[in-house]
Amino acid sequence: MPDPQNRPGLDDKLTLPSGLVLANRIVKAPMTENLADADNQATVRHERAYRRWAEGGAGLLIMGNLMVDRRYLERSRNIVADRHLDIDRLARVRKATGSTPVLAQLGHPGRQTNRFITSKPVAPSAGDAVSMLGLFGKPRELTTDEIRWIVGRFGSAAAMVEQAGFEGVQVHSAHGYLLAQFLSPRTNRRTDEWGGDVPGRARALLESVRACRSATGPGFTVAVKLNSSDFRHGGFTEDDAEHVVRLLADEGVDLVEISGGTYESPALLGLAGASDASEAGSVKEAYFAAFATRARQAASSAAGGAVPIMLTGGIRTRTAMTALLDSGAIDLVGMGRPLALDPDLPRKLLAGEDGRPLPSYALPSVLGLAGESEWYEHQIGRLGDGRDPDPKLHAATAAARFVTGEGVRGVREGRRRRRLAASS
Ligand SMILES: Cc1cc2nc3c(=O)[nH]c(=O)nc-3n(C[C@H](O)[C@H](O)[C@H](O)COP(=O)(O)O)c2cc1C
Repeated sequence: MPDPQNRPGLDDKLTLPSGLVLANRIVKAPMTENLADADNQATVRHERAYRRWAEGGAGLLIMGNLMVDRRYLERSRNIVADRHLDIDRLARVRKATGSTPVLAQLGHPGRQTNRFITSKPVAPSAGDAVSMLGLFGKPRELTTDEIRWIVGRFGSAAAMVEQAGFEGVQVHSAHGYLLAQFLSPRTNRRTDEWGGDVPGRARALLESVRACRSATGPGFTVAVKLNSSDFRHGGFTEDDAEHVVRLLADEGVDLVEISGGTYESPALLGLAGASDASEAGSVKEAYFAAFATRARQAASSAAGGAVPIMLTGGIRTRTAMTALLDSGAIDLVGMGRPLALDPDLPRKLLAGEDGRPLPSYALPSVLGLAGESEWYEHQIGRLGDGRDPDPKLHAATAAARFVTGEGVRGVREGRRRRRLAASS
């Protein structure tokens, strides 16, 4: 825990265990840009959006959801970091941010791959489809060979990201994607070494972290995004999460970002009604603040030494950010949606402005998540076009665009994607 007399301010530097120096405590959280081309390569739209975010003043930018397996995307226009990746084009995104460091988030969606991408997703165990309007197929169980292959893909993707000049990767193990499915006893009912107790369920995550480490050089940052809980009965709990933070600290990861929830319980966007915000005292904005204190303790008591903690979800005002840093529970403040709507917000907060709550764009029912995230994805698309965000877009229009956009691209581009995947 930091010295209580010497709490960090928002504009204080932070050096990660990897040696990476961040100019301040504000991080742009990873958000799927959906801006890749039909071959899932980085584009000039990524470059424009990331240039804009770098100019906005955050100390660290995290790119959303680069996929490690072309067959299973989270969105049709994710960047895919497989052997077809055009590293020069990805490198141009990093160059666009100048002196601001960037991590690339690596992920595999597992059962959270929509039907337009594939009707046959994979998961740690066979089970129910994600229950959202029939948009997801029923997953089949991965074989042990397939799990090892996926773990290796995290490593090879990290090596490409390093070659592209990025400062590091973030392994996505939150929000109900594949590595989070391994962590959850609800979606991982395996009885082999990839399931069972917490260390067994965390094996896929830890091996993926190791693969990233061994494929990259010293000084390359390896971070992890982790749920505090998946807010589902019989799922991954805060006790499990605390244990995993200890394992990650023993593993020597450079940063843990705390979030929560899944597609079926979208606490990450504050939509599940299950977050611990109401218990967070003076920092009610932060959905997962109470767990951050537990994570901090777990990270500090582990053999590997203290791991910096980043907290993301619902944080909006300078007052809350300062209170969180003051509490000693966290080192970095992550923000997603506010920076899609106002990319210059970090600079304003660092200059002393207080920020403000965001209006809600949620729709009732399961459309809530699609409507909310697509609304912000649309704003990111505008940044990619070199335009300003458009706060007037209706949430229903955004949700409809998600379904039709993914549908049309899924049909038009699916066959080509499968052919490329088969050759990789
Ligand atoms: C459009 C959109 C896309 C997102 N994509 C990702 C992603 O690719 N990876 C990830 O870890 N989180 C993703 N998130 C979640 C954010 O990183 C963050 O956890 C969430 O928005 C809560 O933070 P906020 O309240 O500051 O927005 C996404 C959120 C939005 C709105």
